[in-house]
Amino acid sequence: MPDRRPFIAGNWKLWGTRAQASEYCDRLMELLPDESRRPADVGLCVPFTALDVCVEKLRGSGVKVLAQNMHWEESGAYTGEVSPAMLAEVGVDGVVLGHSERREYNCETDRALQQKVPAALDAGLHPILCVGETEEERERGETQRKLRHQVQEGLEKVPSERLVEVTIAYEPIWAIGTGRVATPEIAQEAIAFVRALVGDRSREAAEHVRVQYGGSVKPGNAPEILAQPDVDGALVGGASLDPEGFVQIVAAAGGP
Ligand code: PGA
Repeated sequence: MPDRRPFIAGNWKLWGTRAQASEYCDRLMELLPDESRRPADVGLCVPFTALDVCVEKLRGSGVKVLAQNMHWEESGAYTGEVSPAMLAEVGVDGVVLGHSERREYNCETDRALQQKVPAALDAGLHPILCVGETEEERERGETQRKLRHQVQEGLEKVPSERLVEVTIAYEPIWAIGTGRVATPEIAQEAIAFVRALVGDRSREAAEHVRVQYGGSVKPGNAPEILAQPDVDGALVGGASLDPEGFVQIVAAAGGP
């Protein structure tokens, strides 16, 4: 049985002034057990303007700080963008790439992600690559086709030996922010499929790569989802804004 440590990441989305971030981190540190007693790696994906506050507050705690987007170039005529080196300089650990909200509202494409994922790795940042199908795609029986496309394109330029450094988040779009969490069976099936896609590149990477579930994860439904054999943690949106609930989800990664 491969030893994959679960990874629970909170995605604040568009939430978190510097003052809110500071208060949140203080509360999280009060509630979260020491790193050696946590059943999972823990991370927070926060807005650019709160990154340095979180890096400072969480220093030495083992809690990872991630950005929510990044350009792949180091510099150039890309107004409003932030580069991998800029994130690394702030002390950020990683970056969420290809979240469905960025795909939908900000024209994020698989082609761009093909550049972004290796660019993050080259800058020493841990990428979380998000993939997932819409409700219509699931109803039309196109879930696997969509996941195959997104995973293959997103990872295409990552060398096989570095695939294990990527985390993939399977987030069915119909479950994001809707309260309609996927059943544990759907999450398991889709995540096993994502793992098999990584296995087409490298059998070893497939065994060790972490694949999270995301979409309406709450303290109440987390234990069942996280108990699935291929589910290696969660990307938690709305429920991560409450530190108490977020810590309960982290605890759920340890099993019943
Ligand atoms: P949600 O969001 O937990 O609020 O559904 C998940 C995500 O978008 O990462």
